[in-house]
Amino acid sequence: MTAPLRRGEPVAVDVALGARAYQIVIGRGLTGQIGDRVRALRPGARTAIVTDETVARHHLPAVEAALRSAGVEAAHIVVPEGEGAKSYATFETVCEAIIAARIERRDLVVALGGGVVGDLAGFAAACVRRGLDFVQVPTTLLAQVDSSVGGKTGINSRHGKNLIGAFHQPVLVIADTALLDTLPVRQFRAGYAEVAKYGLLGDAAFFTWLEENWRDVFAGGPAREHAIAVCCRAKAGIVARDERESGERALLNLGHTFGHALEAAAGYSDRLLHGEAVALGMVLAFEFSARRGLVDGAQAARAAAHLAAAGLPTRLGDVPGGVPGIDALMDLIAQDKKVKRGTLTFILVRGIGQAFVANAIDAAEVRAFLAEKLK
Ligand SMILES: NC(=O)c1ccc[n+]([C@@H]2O[C@H](COP(=O)([O-])OP(=O)(O)OC[C@H]3O[C@@H](n4cnc5c(N)ncnc54)[C@H](O)[C@@H]3O)[C@@H](O)[C@H]2O)c1
Ligand SMILES: [Zn+2]
Repeated sequence: MTAPLRRGEPVAVDVALGARAYQIVIGRGLTGQIGDRVRALRPGARTAIVTDETVARHHLPAVEAALRSAGVEAAHIVVPEGEGAKSYATFETVCEAIIAARIERRDLVVALGGGVVGDLAGFAAACVRRGLDFVQVPTTLLAQVDSSVGGKTGINSRHGKNLIGAFHQPVLVIADTALLDTLPVRQFRAGYAEVAKYGLLGDAAFFTWLEENWRDVFAGGPAREHAIAVCCRAKAGIVARDERESGERALLNLGHTFGHALEAAAGYSDRLLHGEAVALGMVLAFEFSARRGLVDGAQAARAAAHLAAAGLPTRLGDVPGGVPGIDALMDLIAQDKKVKRGTLTFILVRGIGQAFVANAIDAAEVRAFLAEKLK
């Protein structure tokens, strides 16, 4: 892991799901090959690219050109940017546009964008004609390491995020790390929280490597491809073993119970991005584990120090505009996670790289912990 990294051939990661197996291809400058790769996968297929306004401005022309130069027909459907696009209204627009573009069972939907576009376009693909195949072309760091892999798709309900959806695996994921060069640094950093998550939940050596190499991941050197490949391999392995989240896949929620509560408290606004909330949530998960005597306080401090060095929030006091009081926070936690007779399920840790699913955590204990943190 310490040998100098050199930029080479694209890395291919297999997601071993039997008849639904697919590849994630990772490399800098892959956009130019999209047409050839799509044609090789599905000769004669037409495509409809779903993207958002911002991504369209930066990257749609290159993607369309690559498809067309390989002789692949490409229609495009551009939705507004932001979480608001994961709505019934935009879902309807996308489905109708896919049908209008005459995309049929042997054709492909291409999701070009961050997690919002991936979730929305993937869900539309799952529904139109009872299921169209789709290709993920993730354009945010979060999407390249997390949302484009694993087949969770969906939109939001007025009752909560991602409550309307389907498992629908893509047939190919193409992660061109150069597309991240146009991503605002704050968005990149938020995605980096999910990168660090893979180290913290199951790979201590990767976490150590990140402590040494994170600057190069941000700068776009070969460390970026390496980090994304490590994360995709980790997620691919977890998804292959537990596609529907009946066990191990829940580990990917490290930091997410606290994180979702904080995100909801900030109204899913620009005040706190998802990855920022997850960074804070992971620190809280480590500190809560330390409070229970599961992990050494020094390990919790080390996890927090790395996230803080990368510029992520690690204390409740870091949230602009503050966080709500203990009652409101506990209500939000109860909404996110099913409370069973006053107990909660959390992802806790026994060390860096050693997360586990902890059932039957007493809500009163969580409350006492958070009350201390809020002081
Ligand atoms: N399906 C899953 O397994 C899964 C996992 C994690 C998160 N998610 C979902 O992902 C969503 C968040 O995804 P996200 O963080 O990628 O947000 P996003 O898709 O909203 O993208 C963030 C912002 O960056 C812009 N952008 C995207 N790519 C860009 C680029 N290359 N250059 C410049 N700007 C660019 C977008 O227009 C947007 O404004 C949430 O809805 C979440 O629920 C899904
Ligand atoms: Zn997340």
